[in-house]
Amino acid sequence: MKLKYFSHSAFQITTDDNKSILIDPFLDQNPTSPVKSDEVTADYIILTHAHGDHLGDSFKIAEKTSPLFIAVNELADYVASNGFKAHNMHIGGAHDFDFGRVKFTIAHHGSITPDGKYAGEPAGVLVTINGKTIYHAGDTGLFYDMKLIGEMNDVDYFLVPIGDNFTMGIDDAVKATEFVNPKTVIPMHYNTFSVINADPNEFKAKAEAKGFNVKVMEYGEEIEI
Ligand code: NI
Ligand code: MN
Repeated sequence: MKLKYFSHSAFQITTDDNKSILIDPFLDQNPTSPVKSDEVTADYIILTHAHGDHLGDSFKIAEKTSPLFIAVNELADYVASNGFKAHNMHIGGAHDFDFGRVKFTIAHHGSITPDGKYAGEPAGVLVTINGKTIYHAGDTGLFYDMKLIGEMNDVDYFLVPIGDNFTMGIDDAVKATEFVNPKTVIPMHYNTFSVINADPNEFKAKAEAKGFNVKVMEYGEEIEI
């Protein structure tokens, strides 16, 4: 299985049988992504919330590859109202798909579509495939229930926002990492726009000082997981 980082909060999981799962594919208007939407395909698109930097190019990608969207109920309804396939879920609920298990968690943030439609609660997401669990925190401030998420899930890869202003900053993200206690933590949601400038190597040094394994992924980098 592979994990690719486009930049911002956009990731791709490619399964051993070559299924493509995109999370928050914000590519074309994303100044830091080396990959644009016409270069990716998707069998599934998981959305944490509806903000433009997360919904991103989902619909453009869906027009050519017809993926199944996975999102909280209100956002999934919005996706369906635009003519795309969606599986409605909600926070706290898990579902087994043919590639693996998806569970939505809370996230403290907002969620409205670029055209002003209410999109339900924002979320984080746990994706478990072949015994490996990736926790994409979405956009969120620090919350103590991350400790519970860490206790109840053996998290292999924790994707955590560090850019501050809209989400956790570096110090809160280090505390979040202590709560979740992952095998590896990967910072995200930084340096896309000047207001979220943050040094991932500062996060790396601070989280490593607490004993964590940190992987700062390059934009466009893909790793075997
Ligand atoms: Ni957001
Ligand atoms: Mn965001």
